Amino acid sequence: MTGLADSLAAPPLPEDALRLHPDIMARLDFRAIFGNDQPTEVELGSGDGSFLAEYASRHADRNFLGVERLLGRMRKLDRKGRRRGLANLRCVRIEAAYVLEWMISPASITALHVYFPDPWPKRRHLKRRLINESFARHAHDALIPGGHVYLRTDHAEYFQQMNEVFQANSGFAPASAPPDLLEVRTDFERDFNARGYPTFQAAFARRPEEAH
Ligand SMILES: C[S@@+](CC[C@H](N)C(=O)[O-])C[C@H]1O[C@@H](n2cnc3c(N)ncnc32)[C@H](O)[C@@H]1O
Repeated sequence: MTGLADSLAAPPLPEDALRLHPDIMARLDFRAIFGNDQPTEVELGSGDGSFLAEYASRHADRNFLGVERLLGRMRKLDRKGRRRGLANLRCVRIEAAYVLEWMISPASITALHVYFPDPWPKRRHLKRRLINESFARHAHDALIPGGHVYLRTDHAEYFQQMNEVFQANSGFAPASAPPDLLEVRTDFERDFNARGYPTFQAAFARRPEEAH
């Protein structure tokens, strides 16, 4: 059965229509990709894409890029976006840290969303965690002054690490996530919540001054 919102949506796009095949040696040109000057937000590790498809559908006046390394998951985001006719969504299959460091132009995004990144709980695997000191530096470079990093995890110790690296970077100040963002849950978040596990969230804003 289709609802009113579905019947009003633009017709579905062809398969993989939202998928980017970027030149990995070049910085992403969001104006060329989206055909507009809207602010752009990026989600790293977008998984099955429920969060990004829903959030993008609520904010047609912003652009969204989902970054995911697993092909099957990226295709799910692509399918969700096409079904909703989201002209403001793109996805790319590539390593999150690479995109952040090498493919996003300095001061070109307004928000970075990182939700339930793999916690790599074994001591010998800690180095594989996405969010570390260099991540905070590259996030600072990618964000416009006043831009936000939004973080969520179920892993208390990783949450502590996230807070430590962003608090240690003087280019960031603690911030709050807006309620309309927090109410859109991710696939992993819904699963953790359904099983009664606590989850944590934090936000940091890039300071206007260049003092880090
Ligand atoms: C635990 S899942 C969370 C997915 C989604 N954010 C959510 O909350 O439902 C982590 C996701 O990040 C992706 N991922 C992990 N490491 C990555 C990396 N280095 N680059 C891109 N994606 C990555 C995984 O494939 C997976 O889809």
